[in-house]
Amino acid sequence: MFSFFKDKNKDADIKLSDIKLPEHIGIIMDGNGRWAKKRALPRSAGHTAGAKTFRTITRYCSNIGIKYLTVYAFSTENWKRPEEEVKALMSLFKSYLEEAIRDFKDDDIVVRFIGDTSAFSDELQALIEENQTMSADRTGMVLNIAMNYGSRDEIVRAVKRIAADVKSGRTDIDSIDQKMISDNLYTAGQPDPDLIIRPSGEYRISNFLLWQSAYTEYVIMDDVLWPDFTSEMLDAALIEYARRNRRFGGV
Ligand code: IPE
Ligand code: IPE
Ligand code: MG
Repeated sequence: MFSFFKDKNKDADIKLSDIKLPEHIGIIMDGNGRWAKKRALPRSAGHTAGAKTFRTITRYCSNIGIKYLTVYAFSTENWKRPEEEVKALMSLFKSYLEEAIRDFKDDDIVVRFIGDTSAFSDELQALIEENQTMSADRTGMVLNIAMNYGSRDEIVRAVKRIAADVKSGRTDIDSIDQKMISDNLYTAGQPDPDLIIRPSGEYRISNFLLWQSAYTEYVIMDDVLWPDFTSEMLDAALIEYARRNRRFGGV
């Protein structure tokens, strides 16, 4: 458990330049609905506010030198939500992906998508494609946007790809190892996340990066909802991360 407001002043003199930063951060952008409910607004208003936070925090991560950022925007299970909410989310994705093409250019951010994007409308798929191609040659932070992403689906997809390779003779059963599985996930070629942050106080993974997070440090923030998340809170999570003793099973 990690409380931003309780520990706020304790770390006031620690600077980011003094600590070891994670190379790859994952964020479960949770709590938009509760944020809206607290204000007697429709849930969609919470998503709009959350999308603004996404843009601010992404830029901030890029500015402080984070190499990879993976944000959970829509899970394979989120289709279960009321039609009206799913519709509002799709229209928000559309306007944000239109903006992202311009917005992230100055920051040199490489925009990638993880998840089964074939489920989205043609219009949204075209925007996804455009973001990926327009940003592919950039050299800055890699931003993975997880949309229609579910880790179990991702693992099933990897198993099918490997099975097809075995069937066709491109590989054989004895060659299957951890690296081959990693190489067949959406995140192929990227380092595993060092730190995953979840605001809104839920103590669960919700099908996010299961394979990749075997040794990830978790910072659950239980006194903030995603739309209220600030760069100071990110700093606090980074300081908390730097305090952890990562042993990877060793001593
Ligand atoms: C996260 O916020 C955004 C998405 C899942 C798209 P929620 O919508 O889950 O907000 P809560 O958890 O209901 O407050
Ligand atoms: C996880 O949040 C998915 C995203 C933030 C996009 P959920 O709100 O869907 O997760 P649960 O239902 O609380 O586990
Ligand atoms: Mg939620």
